[in-house]
Amino acid sequence: MSLLRVSVWRGGESGEFRTYEVPRLESQTVLDVVTFIQRNLEPTLAYRFACRVGMCGSCAMTVNGKARWTCRTHVANVAAEDHLEIAPLNNLPVIRDLVTDMSRFFDKWAQALGRFQGVRSRHDDFPRVLPGSSQRQQIDAAIECIGCGVCYSSCDVVTWNPEYLGPAALNRAWTLINDERDTARAARLAAVAGDAGCHACHTHLSCTERCPKKLSPTAGIAGLKRAVAAAALRGEL
Ligand code: SF4
Ligand code: SF4
Ligand code: FES
Repeated sequence: MSLLRVSVWRGGESGEFRTYEVPRLESQTVLDVVTFIQRNLEPTLAYRFACRVGMCGSCAMTVNGKARWTCRTHVANVAAEDHLEIAPLNNLPVIRDLVTDMSRFFDKWAQALGRFQGVRSRHDDFPRVLPGSSQRQQIDAAIECIGCGVCYSSCDVVTWNPEYLGPAALNRAWTLINDERDTARAARLAAVAGDAGCHACHTHLSCTERCPKKLSPTAGIAGLKRAVAAAALRGEL
């Protein structure tokens, strides 16, 4: 049986990589490898996962230098040399081992007013959004974001400027800007118009290249830039 050499981050921010040997199996995912280590070699290894099928986003880690969902990453596709390096996500504080503190990531969703704000009560009829409307079509892919943090972890601008709202929060703002039922459009545009908002994006495209759901936060951010400029010209900001 062939073996994988797996370097895994242990400890907090000032931790270190430790190397383990793991049997290489057919159809093995990176999450399978981490689970093998935790169950058989290092019971105190901290890591996070839930669904194992690419729905929850909680298993995201840095694998051989790139942020990925570990449950949907097959070892065969990333470990040609029988070696894996598994680290926590970049751009987020490390709690321990492979677990990061996602608070800052989700705080930025709140800063970008990423919460739907309607006016109807439970006693009103459902508002209807026509599937073919141009606004609905604009965000058809973007609403599929599951908040995994892969794009955020891959964005150099977040690394340089930790205040930058980042691709996921801005993608969320873009979906709400195009939601005709939402009533906070002006406030949301103001929230993403500042120095740490959409204009800080350098269009590096790393978020779009790395998003496991093949979404394009870059396109949404470009849309936000246009919407902010139009609102400014109308004197609304
Ligand atoms: S396109 Fe913008 S948000 Fe996406 S990775 Fe590049 S700088 Fe970050
Ligand atoms: S845009 Fe993609 S990579 Fe970013 S949080 Fe959403 S699903 Fe994850
Ligand atoms: S465990 Fe849910 S996406 Fe990987």
